[in-house]
Amino acid sequence: MERLQKIIANSGYCSRRKAEELILNGKVRVNGEIINTLGSKVSYSDTIIINGVTLKLEPKEYVLLYKPRGVVSSAHDDKGRKTVVDIVESENRLYPVGRLDYDTSGILLLTNDGELTNLLIHPSHEVEKVYVAKIDDIVIPSLVKSLEKRVIIDGKKTGKARVKIKKIDKKKKSSLIELMIYEGRNHQVKKMFEAIGYHVSKLKREKFAGLTLDGLKSGEYRHLNIKEVKKLYAIAKK
Ligand code: URA
Repeated sequence: MERLQKIIANSGYCSRRKAEELILNGKVRVNGEIINTLGSKVSYSDTIIINGVTLKLEPKEYVLLYKPRGVVSSAHDDKGRKTVVDIVESENRLYPVGRLDYDTSGILLLTNDGELTNLLIHPSHEVEKVYVAKIDDIVIPSLVKSLEKRVIIDGKKTGKARVKIKKIDKKKKSSLIELMIYEGRNHQVKKMFEAIGYHVSKLKREKFAGLTLDGLKSGEYRHLNIKEVKKLYAIAKK
């Protein structure tokens, strides 16, 4: 059970404040009955009609997916490729919070909570993301570290970044670099490495807003608990 105005706002019909106004003006019917005072609690199985429009109500769902490589991060793909929504079984219309490239693996949230999605992807609330990039080269540590001092991609300086060199394998001529960033620009990590002359051959996102892939294998997912959802709201609103 949730407050009527909150359920109306969650449905995407209007803001919570506007919902309160509609209730007080006698425009909202719950199971056929006009409710014109604030404070009523309703459930997602109730029928809510506002000005003749029946609201589509869905309980909020929050899924943490270990996205495999070779899957598209959208609800639909014009080329008919497998999408992250195909992997997650749900009765709700879930969509991903931001994107990972087709060939990037790792942590991706899916939800039908538009309010949280907007908070998490809004440039001014950008949350912490940790990536591990594989470079088929023996990297020069000082050059890679220079990513912390910001580089220009698409004509604009990148924001705060932290770099950790996890491994340099001289025999295999490859390196693993951890990069923590707060922005979410298109192909950002690949472009940052390109800016210093390295090509990312494999990319994985290991952390998103403090959440990790612990306990999950590629292609697996789990639901977030209430505590985790509240924490995401707190982080995104900071
Ligand atoms: N940066 C990239 O280059 N690709 C991703 O998928 C995510 C971040």
